[in-house]
Parts: sequence; C-alpha cells; structure tokens
Amino acid sequence: MIPPRSACGAPPQGGAASGPAKPVPRRPLGSAVVLLAILPLSTLAQATGGRFEAAQIEAGREQFHRTCSQCHGRNMVNAGTTVYDLRKFPTDQAERFHQSVVQGKGNMPSFKDALTPEQLAVLWAYVGSRGGKEN
Ligand code: HEC
Repeated sequence: MIPPRSACGAPPQGGAASGPAKPVPRRPLGSAVVLLAILPLSTLAQATGGRFEAAQIEAGREQFHRTCSQCHGRNMVNAGTTVYDLRKFPTDQAERFHQSVVQGKGNMPSFKDALTPEQLAVLWAYVGSRGGKEN
C-alpha cells in the first residue's frame, strides 16, 4: 500500500515547474553525465539494428590489427589450420571470447595484462560482429 503523500506534509503533486529554480545537487551530476554520454550511442545502435556501436567496431578493428592480426591475419583472414579462424567464432559466445583471450588457449598467450576491459570490449565488438558485417 502506498501512503498518501500529504501524510508527511509534502505537496500532493511534484512542484518541478513551480517555485524558483534550485541549483542542481552535486552528487547525482556525475552519473547523469555518464548517462547522457551513453544514451545517444545506444540509440544509434538501435537505429541501425546492430548489437554494437559502429565506433566500437572501428576501435576494435584498430586494436585487432595492433595485437591480434599477426596470428589471426589481417581482417581475420587466415587459413584456420593452426590458428583459429575468427570469422567462424560463434557470435553469441562473448563469455568464451573473453575467457580465451584473457586466459590464453593452446598456443595463444594470455592477454590478461596486455588489454584493458575497454580494449577487450571493443575487440569483441569487432569479432562478435564479424568486422561489422553481421551486426
Ligand atoms: C601468438 C599468436 C596469437 C595471437 C597474438 C592471438 N591469438 Fe588468438 N589464437 C591463437 C591460436 C593458436 C588459437 C587456437 C587456440 C587453440 O584452440 O588451441 C587462438 C584462438 C583464439 C580464439 C578462439 C578461442 C576459443 O575459445 O576457441 C579467440 C577468440 C582468439 N584467439 C582471439 C584473439 C584475440 C582477440 C587476439 C588479440 C588480442 C588474439 N587472439 C591474439 C593465436 C594467437
């Protein structure tokens, strides 16, 4: 049950539009700025129907060519005989991607200390969207 607002002496309706403007409280400002920064990007991703933002995929492409392409090939193109062909990596297995890259697998070294969580995220945007082709 919701107690009536007037019980604690507050006005029945929010007075946002009435009264003099008050200074914005400081504490929530940080999270509000973060929200504002994220919102337009996710809207864009929705508008294009993709799971990742184009900017993330592009950042991932650059990161990939700095740290992964020497083994996995330019644009993920390799023979897939000794090194995993990332064009075939299941795009619904983000968890496995992170685990394999962070811990290493077979002849692939661990990237635990070499990549930040942000770099890992954009790498997944790149690989998980097949370089933006299946976003
Ligand atoms: C030194 C060469 C080398 C580099 C550099 C390298 N990889 Fe690999 N990668 C491999 C090899 C070899 C395998 C196959 C491992 C196996 O299954 O034995 C592999 C497999 C993978 C797999 C599949 C793992 C699985 O779950 O089956 C992913 C995903 C992957 N690499 C992503 C990356 C990413 C992202 C980078 C860059 C941060 C990267 N790799 C850099 C050699 C490399």
